[in-house]
Amino acid sequence: MEEHFQIEMRNIQKSYGNIRSLRGVDLQLKPGEVLGLVGDNGAGKSTLMKVLSGVVIPDEGEFYFEGKKVSIDSPRAAKDLSIETVFQDLSLCDTLSVANNMFLGREPVKFLGRLIDQKTLHAKSREHLDKLGIDISSTKLPVQNMSGGQRQAVAIARAMVFDPKVLILDEPTAALGVKEVNMVLELINNVKKKGVSVVLITHRLQDLFEVCDRIMVLNEGKCIDDRLIEQFTLDSLIKSIMGSPDKGVGVS
Ligand SMILES: Nc1ncnc2c1ncn2[C@@H]1O[C@H](COP(=O)(O)OP(=O)(O)O)[C@@H](O)[C@H]1O
Ligand SMILES: [Mg+2]
Repeated sequence: MEEHFQIEMRNIQKSYGNIRSLRGVDLQLKPGEVLGLVGDNGAGKSTLMKVLSGVVIPDEGEFYFEGKKVSIDSPRAAKDLSIETVFQDLSLCDTLSVANNMFLGREPVKFLGRLIDQKTLHAKSREHLDKLGIDISSTKLPVQNMSGGQRQAVAIARAMVFDPKVLILDEPTAALGVKEVNMVLELINNVKKKGVSVVLITHRLQDLFEVCDRIMVLNEGKCIDDRLIEQFTLDSLIKSIMGSPDKGVGVS
Protein backbone atom coordinates (compact mmCIF):
# COMPACT_ATOMS: atom_id res chain seq x y z
CA MET A 1 0.00 0.00 0.00
CA GLU A 2 1.25 3.46 -0.84
CA GLU A 3 2.42 5.45 2.15
CA HIS A 4 0.17 8.35 2.95
CA PHE A 5 1.86 11.63 3.82
CA GLN A 6 0.09 14.57 5.37
CA ILE A 7 2.27 16.86 3.30
CA GLU A 8 5.08 16.29 0.89
CA MET A 9 7.40 18.82 -0.75
CA ARG A 10 9.43 17.69 -3.76
CA ASN A 11 12.49 19.26 -5.35
CA ILE A 12 11.97 22.70 -3.81
CA GLN A 13 14.36 25.25 -5.28
CA LYS A 14 14.67 28.93 -4.46
CA SER A 15 17.35 31.45 -5.37
CA TYR A 16 17.82 35.06 -4.35
CA GLY A 17 20.05 36.47 -7.09
CA ASN A 18 23.21 34.37 -6.97
CA ILE A 19 22.34 32.82 -3.63
CA ARG A 20 20.83 29.38 -4.02
CA SER A 21 18.93 29.21 -0.74
CA LEU A 22 17.18 25.90 -1.52
CA ARG A 23 18.77 23.48 -3.98
CA GLY A 24 16.16 20.80 -4.50
CA VAL A 25 14.81 19.89 -1.07
CA ASP A 26 12.37 17.01 -0.48
CA LEU A 27 10.37 16.93 2.71
CA GLN A 28 7.81 14.39 3.88
CA LEU A 29 5.63 14.71 6.93
CA LYS A 30 3.35 11.95 8.19
CA PRO A 31 0.07 12.60 10.00
CA GLY A 32 0.78 13.33 13.66
CA GLU A 33 4.53 13.35 13.19
CA VAL A 34 6.83 15.93 14.78
CA LEU A 35 9.74 16.76 12.48
CA GLY A 36 12.75 18.69 13.77
CA LEU A 37 14.26 20.95 11.11
CA VAL A 38 17.84 21.92 11.91
CA GLY A 39 20.95 23.31 10.26
CA ASP A 40 23.50 26.07 10.61
CA ASN A 41 22.54 29.72 10.14
CA GLY A 42 21.75 30.33 6.48
CA ALA A 43 21.08 26.64 5.75
CA GLY A 44 17.63 27.45 4.40
CA LYS A 45 15.32 26.38 7.24
CA SER A 46 13.23 29.54 7.43
CA THR A 47 13.04 29.83 3.64
CA LEU A 48 11.80 26.23 3.38
CA MET A 49 9.08 26.88 5.97
CA LYS A 50 8.13 30.17 4.30
CA VAL A 51 7.65 28.16 1.12
CA LEU A 52 5.42 25.69 2.98
CA SER A 53 3.37 28.54 4.46
CA GLY A 54 2.94 30.26 1.09
CA VAL A 55 4.94 33.36 2.03
CA VAL A 56 7.78 32.59 -0.41
CA ILE A 57 7.07 31.17 -3.86
CA PRO A 58 9.70 28.63 -4.95
CA ASP A 59 11.36 28.71 -8.42
CA GLU A 60 10.79 24.96 -8.76
CA GLY A 61 9.05 22.26 -6.82
CA GLU A 62 5.82 20.44 -6.11
CA PHE A 63 3.51 19.99 -3.14
CA TYR A 64 1.32 17.02 -2.29
CA PHE A 65 -1.31 17.24 0.44
CA GLU A 66 -2.71 13.89 1.61
CA GLY A 67 -1.38 12.39 -1.59
CA LYS A 68 -2.94 14.95 -3.95
CA LYS A 69 -0.92 17.48 -5.91
CA VAL A 70 -1.71 21.01 -4.72
CA SER A 71 -0.30 24.49 -5.25
CA ILE A 72 0.75 26.69 -2.38
CA ASP A 73 1.09 30.09 -4.02
CA SER A 74 -0.10 32.37 -1.21
CA PRO A 75 -0.49 32.39 2.58
CA ARG A 76 -4.23 31.96 1.95
CA ALA A 77 -3.62 28.76 -0.06
CA ALA A 78 -1.57 27.32 2.82
CA LYS A 79 -4.27 28.24 5.35
CA ASP A 80 -6.94 26.68 3.14
CA LEU A 81 -4.95 23.43 3.36
CA SER A 82 -4.97 23.87 7.17
CA ILE A 83 -1.26 24.66 7.37
CA GLU A 84 -0.69 27.16 10.20
CA THR A 85 2.56 28.89 11.10
CA VAL A 86 3.78 30.57 14.26
CA PHE A 87 6.54 32.89 13.05
CA GLN A 88 9.35 34.02 15.30
CA ASP A 89 7.84 37.45 15.96
CA LEU A 90 4.55 35.76 17.12
CA SER A 91 2.50 38.66 15.64
CA LEU A 92 0.48 39.22 18.81
CA CYS A 93 -1.31 42.51 19.53
CA ASP A 94 0.27 43.57 22.81
CA THR A 95 -2.54 45.72 24.13
CA LEU A 96 -5.25 43.13 23.44
CA SER A 97 -6.28 40.38 25.82
CA VAL A 98 -5.40 36.70 25.49
CA ALA A 99 -8.92 35.95 24.22
CA ASN A 100 -8.94 38.82 21.72
CA ASN A 101 -5.60 37.69 20.33
CA MET A 102 -6.78 34.11 19.98
CA PHE A 103 -9.92 35.09 18.06
CA LEU A 104 -8.67 38.21 16.29
CA GLY A 105 -10.79 38.81 13.20
CA ARG A 106 -13.20 35.94 13.92
CA GLU A 107 -14.67 36.92 17.28
CA PRO A 108 -18.10 35.51 18.16
CA VAL A 109 -20.72 38.26 17.72
CA LYS A 110 -24.21 39.14 18.96
CA PHE A 111 -26.97 41.63 18.09
CA LEU A 112 -26.81 40.77 14.38
CA GLY A 113 -23.04 41.06 14.29
CA ARG A 114 -22.90 44.51 15.82
CA LEU A 115 -21.16 43.57 19.05
CA ILE A 116 -18.48 41.10 20.05
CA ASP A 117 -20.02 38.49 22.32
CA GLN A 118 -17.49 38.89 25.15
CA LYS A 119 -18.92 36.11 27.28
CA THR A 120 -18.71 33.54 24.49
CA LEU A 121 -15.29 34.86 23.43
CA HIS A 122 -13.78 34.29 26.86
CA ALA A 123 -15.55 30.98 27.39
CA LYS A 124 -14.31 29.66 24.05
CA SER A 125 -10.77 30.88 24.73
CA ARG A 126 -10.75 29.20 28.11
CA GLU A 127 -12.00 25.97 26.55
CA HIS A 128 -9.21 26.04 23.94
CA LEU A 129 -6.51 26.81 26.52
CA ASP A 130 -7.75 23.99 28.76
CA LYS A 131 -7.82 21.52 25.87
CA LEU A 132 -4.16 22.29 25.22
CA GLY A 133 -3.23 22.23 28.89
CA ILE A 134 -2.16 25.89 28.85
CA ASP A 135 -2.09 27.44 32.31
CA ILE A 136 -3.15 31.09 32.03
CA SER A 137 -5.14 32.50 34.98
CA SER A 138 -7.35 34.91 33.03
CA THR A 139 -8.20 35.22 29.33
CA LYS A 140 -8.78 38.94 30.00
CA LEU A 141 -5.09 39.70 30.62
CA PRO A 142 -3.38 41.81 27.97
CA VAL A 143 -0.55 39.79 26.42
CA GLN A 144 1.98 42.62 26.92
CA ASN A 145 2.25 41.74 30.62
CA MET A 146 2.96 38.08 29.98
CA SER A 147 6.20 36.11 30.05
CA GLY A 148 7.87 34.95 26.84
CA GLY A 149 6.65 31.40 27.37
CA GLN A 150 3.06 32.47 27.94
CA ARG A 151 3.12 34.65 24.84
CA GLN A 152 4.44 31.71 22.83
CA ALA A 153 1.65 29.55 24.28
CA VAL A 154 -0.98 32.14 23.27
CA ALA A 155 0.45 32.28 19.73
CA ILE A 156 0.33 28.47 19.46
CA ALA A 157 -3.20 28.43 20.93
CA ARG A 158 -4.31 30.97 18.34
CA ALA A 159 -2.91 28.80 15.52
CA MET A 160 -4.70 25.79 17.04
CA VAL A 161 -8.07 27.59 16.94
CA PHE A 162 -7.94 27.07 13.15
CA ASP A 163 -7.80 23.31 13.77
CA PRO A 164 -4.67 22.86 11.62
CA LYS A 165 -3.39 19.59 10.21
CA VAL A 166 0.13 20.98 9.94
CA LEU A 167 1.67 23.40 12.44
CA ILE A 168 5.00 25.10 11.73
CA LEU A 169 6.91 26.50 14.69
CA ASP A 170 9.99 28.67 14.02
CA GLU A 171 12.22 28.80 17.11
CA PRO A 172 9.43 28.63 19.73
CA THR A 173 11.86 28.17 22.64
CA ALA A 174 14.49 30.77 21.73
CA ALA A 175 15.10 33.23 24.58
CA LEU A 176 13.01 31.38 27.18
CA GLY A 177 13.94 30.27 30.71
CA VAL A 178 14.22 26.57 31.58
CA LYS A 179 10.73 26.23 33.10
CA GLU A 180 9.19 28.05 30.16
CA VAL A 181 11.00 25.88 27.65
CA ASN A 182 9.57 22.80 29.37
CA MET A 183 6.08 24.32 29.30
CA VAL A 184 6.32 24.96 25.54
CA LEU A 185 7.72 21.46 24.89
CA GLU A 186 4.82 19.96 26.85
CA LEU A 187 2.46 22.08 24.75
CA ILE A 188 4.03 20.73 21.53
CA ASN A 189 3.51 17.20 22.85
CA ASN A 190 -0.16 18.04 23.56
CA VAL A 191 -0.56 19.39 20.01
CA LYS A 192 0.95 16.18 18.70
CA LYS A 193 -1.53 14.10 20.72
CA LYS A 194 -4.33 15.82 18.80
CA GLY A 195 -2.91 14.27 15.63
CA VAL A 196 -1.44 17.49 14.24
CA SER A 197 1.78 17.19 12.21
CA VAL A 198 4.42 19.62 13.44
CA VAL A 199 7.60 21.06 11.93
CA LEU A 200 9.83 22.47 14.64
CA ILE A 201 12.81 24.71 13.86
CA THR A 202 15.16 25.07 16.80
CA HIS A 203 18.78 25.61 17.76
CA ARG A 204 18.20 23.93 21.13
CA LEU A 205 19.21 20.42 20.12
CA GLN A 206 18.31 18.87 23.47
CA ASP A 207 14.68 19.97 22.90
CA LEU A 208 14.48 17.85 19.76
CA PHE A 209 14.95 14.69 21.79
CA GLU A 210 11.94 15.64 23.96
CA VAL A 211 9.38 16.02 21.20
CA CYS A 212 10.57 14.88 17.76
CA ASP A 213 9.93 11.66 15.88
CA ARG A 214 12.37 12.51 13.13
CA ILE A 215 15.06 15.06 12.33
CA MET A 216 15.97 16.57 8.99
CA VAL A 217 19.26 18.42 8.59
CA LEU A 218 19.69 21.17 6.02
CA ASN A 219 23.10 22.28 4.83
CA GLU A 220 23.59 25.02 2.24
CA GLY A 221 20.12 24.53 0.85
CA LYS A 222 20.21 20.74 0.69
CA CYS A 223 18.93 17.99 2.93
CA ILE A 224 22.02 16.07 4.04
CA ASP A 225 20.44 13.87 6.72
CA ASP A 226 16.93 12.65 7.56
CA ARG A 227 16.51 9.97 10.19
CA LEU A 228 14.27 8.81 13.02
CA ILE A 229 15.18 10.37 16.35
CA GLU A 230 16.24 6.96 17.71
CA GLN A 231 18.96 6.88 15.09
CA PHE A 232 20.59 10.04 16.41
CA THR A 233 22.71 10.77 19.44
CA LEU A 234 23.46 14.37 20.40
CA ASP A 235 26.99 13.82 19.05
CA SER A 236 25.89 12.41 15.71
CA LEU A 237 23.36 15.23 15.35
CA ILE A 238 26.06 17.85 15.93
CA LYS A 239 28.31 16.16 13.33
CA SER A 240 25.46 16.23 10.89
CA ILE A 241 24.72 19.92 11.48
CA MET A 242 28.43 20.66 10.96
CA GLY A 243 28.08 19.08 7.53
CA SER A 244 29.45 15.55 7.95
CA PRO A 245 26.69 13.16 8.92
CA ASP A 246 27.99 9.99 10.52
CA LYS A 247 25.13 7.70 9.65
CA GLY A 248 26.81 4.65 11.14
CA VAL A 249 26.03 5.81 14.67
CA GLY A 250 22.99 4.24 16.23
CA VAL A 251 21.75 2.70 12.97
CA SER A 252 21.24 -1.04 12.98
N1 LIG B 1 14.60 37.64 1.26
C1 LIG B 1 15.86 37.23 1.05
N2 LIG B 1 16.67 37.93 0.20
C2 LIG B 1 17.92 37.52 -0.04
N3 LIG B 1 18.48 36.45 0.51
C3 LIG B 1 17.74 35.72 1.36
C4 LIG B 1 16.40 36.06 1.68
N4 LIG B 1 15.91 35.15 2.54
C5 LIG B 1 16.89 34.27 2.76
N5 LIG B 1 18.00 34.60 2.07
C6 LIG B 1 19.27 33.86 2.05
O1 LIG B 1 18.97 32.48 1.90
C7 LIG B 1 19.83 31.69 2.71
C8 LIG B 1 19.00 30.85 3.66
O2 LIG B 1 18.40 31.68 4.64
P1 LIG B 1 17.39 31.16 5.75
O3 LIG B 1 16.35 30.34 5.11
O4 LIG B 1 16.95 32.33 6.55
O5 LIG B 1 18.35 30.22 6.63
P2 LIG B 1 18.13 29.65 8.12
O6 LIG B 1 16.74 29.90 8.53
O7 LIG B 1 18.48 28.21 8.02
O8 LIG B 1 19.12 30.39 8.98
C9 LIG B 1 20.78 32.66 3.41
O9 LIG B 1 21.97 32.75 2.64
C10 LIG B 1 20.01 33.96 3.37
O10 LIG B 1 20.89 35.05 3.40
MG1 LIG C 1 15.89 31.02 10.19
